[in-house]
Parts: sequence; structure tokens; C-alpha cells
Amino acid sequence: MSIFNKLFKKKAEGNDMTELNIGIILGSTREGRVSPQVGAWVKELADKRGDANYTVIDIADYNLPLLGTAEAPGAQAWAEVIGAQDGFVFIVQEYNHSITGALKNALDYLQAQWNNKAAGIVSYGSVGGARAAEHLRGILGELLVADVRVHPALSLFTDFENGAFKPKDVQAASVGQMLDQVIPWATALKTIR
Ligand SMILES: Cc1cc2nc3c(=O)[nH]c(=O)nc-3n(C[C@H](O)[C@H](O)[C@H](O)COP(=O)(O)O)c2cc1C
Repeated sequence: MSIFNKLFKKKAEGNDMTELNIGIILGSTREGRVSPQVGAWVKELADKRGDANYTVIDIADYNLPLLGTAEAPGAQAWAEVIGAQDGFVFIVQEYNHSITGALKNALDYLQAQWNNKAAGIVSYGSVGGARAAEHLRGILGELLVADVRVHPALSLFTDFENGAFKPKDVQAASVGQMLDQVIPWATALKTIR
């Protein structure tokens, strides 16, 4: 191992990785939604890793009206919570083959606070929320959010039972692989902000 690699390895080991903040964003806001269950599951898996501060961020808490239609007392807090993150895991549910209006609106509220950060997507729907997830990737590109390849996709038929979230074991491994990609990208992008 070269002296450079030895020094780099030592520095990486010495870094306090808990300084990395990753927001787990719940994309749905409707009454009776299942996103809090999915978000709590991702957080539990993520917390076991000890590699970042993971926080569930619920769009519903910020009461954001449609952008530009009314006063938005929660907008400042929304900007602050997103600005404080180094990366994201979007909990995405499929509504009419796309993301929810609430998530699109919440994304539209901000710009700089999203830029040059990394993200993973965990989606659900009848075909794993795949169509919504792909729509989100296009939006994230415009916001300069680097979305990783691994994408846990939960099926309404096999990972839920009568509205209760019961993920198959294999899905937990997929969340781990997604975070294995988000963490290094979030770390790297921090250096250019
Ligand atoms: C308005 C609406 C549209 C939906 N459209 C789709 C769809 O196009 N494809 C799909 O797989 N599921 C669709 N669903 C089912 C949702 O993915 C499912 O209800 C999911 O639990 C919604 O997430 P939530 O419980 O967090 O709100 C739709 C649900 C709603 C409420």
C-alpha cells in the first residue's frame, strides 16, 4: 500500500461519519397512508449501520400549500430541515404512475437545499412503484441530486398484508445495498458544496 493510500485510509477511519445527515423523506400525506411504516422500517435498518444520522422527515408536518397559492408558514422550516441534510432516502409511493403531488410540490419549494446531494429511492406500488421512482429520477436530475442505482421496490401484493407493511426478508438486504451507495456519494458531494 502506498504512503498516500495509508494516509487516506487513516483519515477515512478517523472521520466522524456520524456527522453525515441523511433525511428519510415520506412522500405521501394522505390520511391512512402507509409511508410512516415504510419510513420507520428504513430508519431502523439504517440506524443499525452507525454510519450517519438518519432522520425521518414527514412532508405533512410542514403544511406546504401548493407553491405560490397561499402563505406558507412552514416553508422556512422545510428549507432548514432539507438544507441540513447531506443526502436523502425518498420513500416513494405510486399515484397514477407517478410520484404524489405532495412530494412534487415539496421538491418544487426548494432548489439550493437539494443541490449536490445524494439520494436513494425506496418505492412501493403494484409493480414496486417502479414508474413513480423513474419519474422521480428525472426530477432529481434537474435538482442536481445524484440518485443511486440500487432501488428497493416493494410490492403491494407481497410486501403488504391488508394495509400492514410486512416486507419480505430480501428487501432489507436491498436497503443495505442502496445505503452502501448513498453514503459514499453523500460523503463525496459534501466536499463540493
Ligand atoms: C390517488 C392514488 C393513485 C394511485 N395510483 C396507483 C398507480 O398508478 N399504480 C400503483 O401501483 N398504485 C397506485 N395506487 C396505490 C398506492 O400505491 C397505494 O395505495 C399506496 O399504499 C399509497 O401510498 P400511501 O399509503 O403512502 O399513500 C394509487 C393510490 C392512490 C391514493
